Amino acid sequence: MNISQTPEKIRELLTPLRGQHIALVPTMGCLHAGHISLIRKAKSLADVVIVSIYVNPLQFGENEDFHQYPKTFEKDAEICKNEGVDVIFHPKNLYPDDGPNITLKISHMGHLLCGKSRPTHFDGVVTVVNILFNIIHPDIAIFGEKDWQQLAIIRRMVSDLHMPIEVIGSEIIREADGLAMSSRNRYLSPDERQKSLFLSQTMLLMKSNTKNSHKASKIIRFGIDNLKKYGISIEYLEICNELTLNPENSITPQSRIFIAAKIGSTRLIDNMPLSITTENTL
Ligand code: PAJ
Repeated sequence: MNISQTPEKIRELLTPLRGQHIALVPTMGCLHAGHISLIRKAKSLADVVIVSIYVNPLQFGENEDFHQYPKTFEKDAEICKNEGVDVIFHPKNLYPDDGPNITLKISHMGHLLCGKSRPTHFDGVVTVVNILFNIIHPDIAIFGEKDWQQLAIIRRMVSDLHMPIEVIGSEIIREADGLAMSSRNRYLSPDERQKSLFLSQTMLLMKSNTKNSHKASKIIRFGIDNLKKYGISIEYLEICNELTLNPENSITPQSRIFIAAKIGSTRLIDNMPLSITTENTL
């Protein structure tokens, strides 16, 4: 396994490999089973798998956890090696020394859901993913459904900017008790960890509530009341179309529940399809 730290090095390394099917798995490190599932999907679909590890300052707001974000590079490299990753791209910085002068901006989709409380977050995400795509030129790129809004926005970026890259979504990996895996789960105290279960449990209850009503507002009200019972501070709980991310009035096959909540000082997000299917029965 090769570890490249500069765009020049990784381009040089990839030159003889062009023509093979190349997959990119972008990450910010602190790898867990969720990331590993993306790597495995990439391995099953491509000849060459590249994992990028870069904590992107541009996607963190002023009072967010950029400086606190866990860095576990040695362990991450070990995981990648064991999973048969071909190259880790681990740049020190992806922006010019005088800061990013040229950035991408998202209009509507970036201001919904998480974009309401993190107004510049998705601009930071698409700017860095665009840079990674420009350096690596992958054939496919794998993103987790855990960050559904991010996945939908990146699909839209690739489509709007006519990038010759296939974006592939990969299912949410959860702990045995239902909590969606996240690098930020390590911030939770044992009590908070217990409380965090109400997110997935509430979504499951909302799902089964569609038997009684197909009216989104009713199902949302039920979910909010349930979370409030446990003293969870909800940032949003919405039912939206999974492609456009626009709120929906009644349940359709493309309806998905989106949730963001603070457990103590840790912000968690999760989502689940609302249409009645056999998947996601935790
Ligand atoms: P990061 O939070 O490290 O996540 C990297 C990828 O892993 C994302 O596509 C995310 O959706 C996926 N992922 C995280 N937890 C998961 C889980 N429990 N199940 C399935 N997939 C999961 O997302 C980012 O980094 C950054 O925004 C990035 C795209 C790298 C741009 O900086």
